[in-house]
Amino acid sequence: MLALEAVTVRFGGLVALRDVTFGLEKGEILGLVGPNGAGKTTLFNGISGLTRLRGRVLFEGRDITRLPLHRRARLGIGRTFQIPQPMKHLTVRENLAVAQVFGAGRHDPERIEEILAVMDLSAQAGRPAEGALALQELKRLEIAKALATEPKLLLLDEVLAGLESQAKRGFSAKLRELHARFGLTIVIVEHDIETISDLCSRAVVLDFGEIIADGTPAAVFRDRRVVESYTGAVHA
Ligand SMILES: Nc1ncnc2c1ncn2[C@@H]1O[C@H](COP(=O)(O)OP(=O)(O)OP(=O)(O)O)[C@@H](O)[C@H]1O
Ligand SMILES: [Mg+2]
Repeated sequence: MLALEAVTVRFGGLVALRDVTFGLEKGEILGLVGPNGAGKTTLFNGISGLTRLRGRVLFEGRDITRLPLHRRARLGIGRTFQIPQPMKHLTVRENLAVAQVFGAGRHDPERIEEILAVMDLSAQAGRPAEGALALQELKRLEIAKALATEPKLLLLDEVLAGLESQAKRGFSAKLRELHARFGLTIVIVEHDIETISDLCSRAVVLDFGEIIADGTPAAVFRDRRVVESYTGAVHA
């Protein structure tokens, strides 16, 4: 459903992504891992239309390389942000409505209520999105906003970061439920190997802007280069 062909992103002299090529099948749950600064968020920005790049991005067979963010959202590419940025003066429900109009081009209150319910946010729906919400609720809101855009492909940037392992397991179960219920394809950036192994059918490892491993989580986390890049050992 998604293909990147030789994607390169530069920021001045820094090469944030170098010649990244990979494909994603419909229905996959792919874990995107790699050390800080590896280029994971930049990859999401390139797919969702926030960053200019060299190379090509294809979505459902169509070249979207030059399409702006909102057009890609309408085609079904949804994402969360590493630092949640809800519109804090709007209520939780209003945040979802804004996301839905942006991403789906319509307002469907029933669908919003469904998303609120599935993300356990119905009780908070009338509250302002910031201040009144706890960390886990903000994370659920970030996912709910992405769902409200009615994506086929959902890009999750460290939505589980900062949670304890029990909460991570709960979120993982929720993500599996969303995957089945909404027929999603998911890419999730996450550092925790246990979570990736539990949730994902495939893992891709980025290091200094290049893919250094791609396979089942079990195979990838046994790979010597991956272990080295993770532990910071022997980086010749
Ligand atoms: N807008 C920007 N301008 C300049 N440099 C940038 C910009 N965005 C990212 N970078 C640089 O590109 C590289 C990749 O950054 P990116 O945020 O994609 O990494 P990441 O893998 O998401 O890291 P983290 O795990 O810390 O979130 C880093 O060296 C970063 O400093
Ligand atoms: Mg990042």
